[in-house]
Amino acid sequence: MKELKTIRGMPDLYGLEVQAISFVEKTCEKVFRSFNFKEFRTPILENKSLFERSVGDTSDIIQKEMYELQDRKGENLCLRPEGTAGLVRALITNGLDDLEIKKYFYIGPMFRYERPQKGRKRQFVQAGIELIGDDSINADVEILQVAKIVLEQLSIPSELEINFIGDIECIENFRDYLRDYLQQYKDQIEEKLYFRLLRNPIRALDSKDEKIKDIIKDARPISDFFTEEQKTRFEDIKSLLDSLEINYKVNPNLVRGLDYYTGLVFEFTNNNLGAQNAILGGGRYDNLIADLGGNKIPATGFALGVDRLAEIVVTNLDNSGIFLGSLDSKSKAYAQKLGFKLRSNNPTLNVETYLGNANLNKQLKKADSFGFKFVIIIGQEELNSGVFKLKSLSNTAEDQDMTEKELLEKFS
Ligand code: HAM
Repeated sequence: MKELKTIRGMPDLYGLEVQAISFVEKTCEKVFRSFNFKEFRTPILENKSLFERSVGDTSDIIQKEMYELQDRKGENLCLRPEGTAGLVRALITNGLDDLEIKKYFYIGPMFRYERPQKGRKRQFVQAGIELIGDDSINADVEILQVAKIVLEQLSIPSELEINFIGDIECIENFRDYLRDYLQQYKDQIEEKLYFRLLRNPIRALDSKDEKIKDIIKDARPISDFFTEEQKTRFEDIKSLLDSLEINYKVNPNLVRGLDYYTGLVFEFTNNNLGAQNAILGGGRYDNLIADLGGNKIPATGFALGVDRLAEIVVTNLDNSGIFLGSLDSKSKAYAQKLGFKLRSNNPTLNVETYLGNANLNKQLKKADSFGFKFVIIIGQEELNSGVFKLKSLSNTAEDQDMTEKELLEKFS
């Protein structure tokens, strides 16, 4: 039989890792709902052409990252690499592309055939929101507020980078300019890269290639191609962010890797994950719904990498519940009784009534490995006296002697 193995970049998830992932997902859902975003689930499989028409056929995703397959009838399908295109497809196919403002969120697996490394997997979870049908700067700012609150609730330090890329005409003019500009350096750029850049020269702005970085430094910024109206809009967005005390840095090279963006684009970064520092990204996509055959409706949104955020929170995850250890069978029976009372008193409290036969030190280690903050180890002495030592494993609180009644009060 062939050796059993997981597929590269698609690890099984268990222990603290999945605890952190689930915590991030729940936090996202809570915050999304608090802004009245409603859940939308689309299938994991879509027609491949959906992404070619939205994400763009010169993007990395289409060029080299798609998981493609044919079904039994020869339809070209793929595992979704991101959530926006599927949601827009769903709006159109369900007749939801009307003028009503709609707010949707999704949390689910996405697939990209990238080289796996810290913070980068081939199957990963995105949590995203899409605000459909409002072209005001308040919509742009609302989604930034959602992002900010999610990151705050997860206690993840981050920096917000924003840029404004105008409309399709502005982007096209800028592309034409960049093509001419790059042509002067044709001899200095590796041939394959040069021709790839000619197809979508905007990618030169966030290229990782040192030579390109050097060349592009002296190019004119996209803001030179803004209309007066676009200039004002970007200024207005910045003023609104200032008044809401949302800190940001303007990064004129931030262009994002997907073709559907127009107007405001942004990314939140965090330095804990080395090269994979983008933890959340998004922006406005006012043409995508019409481009895919729906009505002309503006939209904006973002998605965050749940696995990426989980890798950052995993270190500060703790378990505020209680570990009830025991040293003999009578104590174990008492621990089960006490555990039952604690849980009935407080259904959200996490109580582990230890089932094995390890000694006291091993039980303490076990409690620590689960991340518990509090431990009680019950033995004959405790049963006789009715007083239990509540041990704190967090270094922040002192150990305390408590009766059963006091314990039930403390953890209610
Ligand atoms: P994106 O920037 O391609 O945008 O992905 C959003 C987030 O997904 C990234 O910031 C990153 O945290 C996470 N991510 C991407 N690739 C991987 C990977 N291989 N492993 C782990 N995490 C990853 C989008 O997908 C757009 N649909 C966002 C959007 C929604 N724009 C408007 N609405």
